[in-house]
Amino acid sequence: MLADKKILFGVSGSIAVYKAAEWVRELAKAGADVTVVMTEAATRFVSPLTFATLSGRRVYTGMFEPDSGEEVTHINLAKKCDLFLVAPATAQTIAKLANGFADNLLTSLALANRAKMLIFPAMNSNMYCHGATRANLARLKDYGYGIIEPDEGKLACGDEGVGRLVDWETARDALLSAFAPQDLLEKTVIITAGPTCEPFDPARHLSNRSSGKMGFALARSAKQRGARVILISGPTSLKKPSGVEVINSATALEMHDAVMDNYDRADIVVMSAAVSDYRPAKLKEKKVKKGSGSIALELVPNPDILKELGKRKGKAGSPLLVGFAAESSDHLEEGKRKLKEKKLDLIVVNDIIGTETGFASDTNQVSLIDRDYQLEKSPLLTKEECAYLIWDKIARLMQ
Ligand code: C5P
Repeated sequence: MLADKKILFGVSGSIAVYKAAEWVRELAKAGADVTVVMTEAATRFVSPLTFATLSGRRVYTGMFEPDSGEEVTHINLAKKCDLFLVAPATAQTIAKLANGFADNLLTSLALANRAKMLIFPAMNSNMYCHGATRANLARLKDYGYGIIEPDEGKLACGDEGVGRLVDWETARDALLSAFAPQDLLEKTVIITAGPTCEPFDPARHLSNRSSGKMGFALARSAKQRGARVILISGPTSLKKPSGVEVINSATALEMHDAVMDNYDRADIVVMSAAVSDYRPAKLKEKKVKKGSGSIALELVPNPDILKELGKRKGKAGSPLLVGFAAESSDHLEEGKRKLKEKKLDLIVVNDIIGTETGFASDTNQVSLIDRDYQLEKSPLLTKEECAYLIWDKIARLMQ
């Protein structure tokens, strides 16, 4: 999703420059066209050669380089970019940008730039919390710059506090948000993800192979497209997406209650969780002991959350409903049946038998069937790309 994007990457002089080198590598790997501009101080931490090698392009450091290959470097580089980011952005560079200084190539380019600008501050926490820096950042926000607040933690100077450059994952989310269509702005979406676990004794439960990857990808991409996201998740080992409200629910009954508690706030509900259809009738107080014979476990049905939401449909303001169907045979027929039975606006059907689709894999191939039985089949995509495709379809259905 970052392929072929022209990114001007400003680097100012903080110890976090070495992390920026990794970001340049990631961007180049994603197919982006990255041009790095460094302040003099930044070149003291990491050599321009490192950035040139990682970006595969020449690095710019000075205003008056005779062989820059650009006629008016400080204007032309800015004219050619789709996005300009500064990482790490030091207190000094932030102050210059806030006050319109153009005393080096990076700050001159920032003044000449008309593309979206993202600032990733990194500095000692006292410097970051100082009134001057706060005022400068507020001013940059007024200019329309995106400011990605640094993380808290142990700093290179030994202090503990806010000021660490965010990790690549957070930076990537910010970049994707800058490029994503903002078609979910002002919308509240509930997304369920992962498996549910149905305990039958203090040590054991029944569950399924869902990893939560598809639901988490849906949550991250909805956030990137401007939505307020409530992610109701069964147990997974995935990292919480930034800027998303996460509600943990272990069992189907807990997930049911969490969905119903938040239903009135939602414009869209996407049930991507693999909810257990049954739960053990009784939770044994003590761990079941091993014996020589077989044992029988009585199961009772769980409520079908989505079906219940479908029944409520029709009232003014009811949210758009999206379901998932994980199938191992008769995919499309089963999908259509569930779409009708649960009164959905859209069902996403996927094959759980293939090795590159369904549970736990990083890729997926989906068939989307909408309320008018229009079918759209995707090629094999990453789950993130699949999530974008699903939101494209939902945005069209919302119109
Ligand atoms: O009928 P089936 O379980 O295959 O339907 C799958 C869809 O219904 C998924 O979107 C899943 O999240 C949802 N579901 C539910 N409550 C259940 C079981 C499934 O909301 N108890």
